Amino acid sequence: MEYKLIPADRYDDVIDHLRNTFFADEPLNKAAGLCRPGVGNRELEHHSLETLSDGLSLMAIDEDGRIAGVILNGILRPGDTERALAQLELSSDDNFKKIFELLYTHGLQSKLFSRFGVDRAFDVRILSVDARFRGQGIAKELVRRSERVARDCGFPIMKADATGIFSQKILRSNGFEMLSEQLYGKYTDAQGQIILPVEAPHIKLQLLYKRLDENEADT
Ligand code: ACO
Repeated sequence: MEYKLIPADRYDDVIDHLRNTFFADEPLNKAAGLCRPGVGNRELEHHSLETLSDGLSLMAIDEDGRIAGVILNGILRPGDTERALAQLELSSDDNFKKIFELLYTHGLQSKLFSRFGVDRAFDVRILSVDARFRGQGIAKELVRRSERVARDCGFPIMKADATGIFSQKILRSNGFEMLSEQLYGKYTDAQGQIILPVEAPHIKLQLLYKRLDENEADT
């Protein structure tokens, strides 16, 4: 398996990969019924392309050059999440809104920037491995290599909204720690109904972080 930064001429392939993996089977997307396998989602594709344009994302490619997995990393600065939340109001995709309202409000409550006294974070937004290649350590390696990119670019901290038990395990094994968490069963509307009925074994969202200005480089 080869690991590389994702160049612009592979963005379409990345979107194709995500349509067949992450868009349908990431725990929150699945709970919201965001899209069927192979079918796109305009908002999520826009979110992915915006993140790709930060130039910090990596792909794992097999010997035929096909994408086996990706990690889409973006730059997060103070005020970005507030702006994204305001922008979300304009979305006509109710399922997309449900997911991102949870992620953004939870992110804001964690007060990442003031808590750690930093002015930018390396944001791990999408971690996705093709079903045919799962269980071979590709996601773990994508996270490990992302840390190198983040360190090389001088980021003081990495963060991720890990939505399922496996991404949480993978990030923790790469030295991430928990800042805050939200049980899906306790995320309810005014009538007490669970907003995102996420399937077991995934029970909570965790905001995980790793400080890079305090840790030794993990090579
Ligand atoms: N069942 C049991 N254990 C699992 C599973 C599984 N389905 N998936 C991963 N693990 C464990 C592995 O056993 C391994 O543990 P170990 O180091 O103790 O042996 C560890 O997690 C690392 O596994 P990898 O092989 O590196 O993970 P993989 O390459 O299979 O990719 C991923 C995991 C990305 C979660 C993949 O299943 C996927 O694409 N899922 C759908 C999309 C998704 O949920 N993405 C994460 C959302 S959060 C975010 O994007 C920031």
